[in-house]
Amino acid sequence: MPVATPHPLGLSPIALGLWRAGRVQLPTARLVELIATSLDAGVNTFDLADIYGNYAGEQAFGAALAASKLPRSAVRLISKCGVCSVSEARPAHRVKHYDNGGDHVRASVDASLKTLGTDYLDLFLVHRPDFLLDADELAEALRQVVQAGKVRHVGVSNFSPSQQRLLASRLHGLPGGLAANQVELSVLHRAPFTDGTLDLCQEQRCVPMAWSPLGGGFLFSGETDEAARVRTALAEVGEALGGATADQVALAWLMRHPSGILPVLGTTDPARVQSAAGASALQLDRQQWYQIWQAATGTTIP
Ligand SMILES: NC(=O)c1ccc[n+]([C@@H]2O[C@H](COP(=O)([O-])OP(=O)(O)OC[C@H]3O[C@@H](n4cnc5c(N)ncnc54)[C@H](OP(=O)(O)O)[C@@H]3O)[C@@H](O)[C@H]2O)c1
Repeated sequence: MPVATPHPLGLSPIALGLWRAGRVQLPTARLVELIATSLDAGVNTFDLADIYGNYAGEQAFGAALAASKLPRSAVRLISKCGVCSVSEARPAHRVKHYDNGGDHVRASVDASLKTLGTDYLDLFLVHRPDFLLDADELAEALRQVVQAGKVRHVGVSNFSPSQQRLLASRLHGLPGGLAANQVELSVLHRAPFTDGTLDLCQEQRCVPMAWSPLGGGFLFSGETDEAARVRTALAEVGEALGGATADQVALAWLMRHPSGILPVLGTTDPARVQSAAGASALQLDRQQWYQIWQAATGTTIP
């Protein structure tokens, strides 16, 4: 079922992440199929990072995009920088580290544009907060890449509420401000509901993006009591919703939150993208939402 509602950043309500595709070095033909099926299902937003596939993922995805012969406007491209892995592809890296410095951000945007074969990114994220983060320096670099037309919107990933607030405070006047914070978030990883992350996103109208929205697959294969309880609740709610599948209910559970959570799927299977896209048409009522919450926590709310 196609995803219909337009998103504030022009992104589809569900995105497809390419981390696992990069890890398994999905061949071009499989990437082309994945892109085509995603677009058919209404998923037009693709989440990448410089480090995916040991620094080769963007290149592979760019090749698949070129082979797809799609107009650039058919897709929304997200990339990230800031995690610096030790790799033969980056001989200057002696030690794994984070780098949110201005020079690194500017150079990484240029490198992502080149490897993806595009002249702009729809969203550029700072992948992880650098313990040596200088908010003025990072904000200036983010402003520059937006003002140069290389990036439409900027955001962060894995930032705590205090880190997000600090950086956002330096981006006043930038259209869109800090547009997204991509964090680990699923029915099995609920910390952002209680640690202030989703509150701040709602306050700042910043889009919370959920990475590992299906718990990295643990939702289906996990052998813990928690995972088993959640599977039972997802099945019950899915049945009440007319036969929705567990993946659809788990995603709709995230999307029910008023902060506008945008799940980033990780599957490499086109059929699973198609199934997941059906989540956009589901509307859990408040009690169904709490049924799943309480199944996950294993307790009744006070
Ligand atoms: N910003 C960050 O720091 C960060 C960190 C991690 C990830 N991410 C982003 O988030 C994306 C998603 O992360 P993720 O891959 O962990 O997400 P996920 O969607 O929670 O997990 C994907 C895994 O679940 C399996 N799966 C999906 N649907 C299934 C189903 N119906 N039944 C059984 N197994 C199923 C997939 O296997 P199949 O492939 O076989 O379907 C895959 O192994 C990444 O690609 C990346 O773009 C960002």
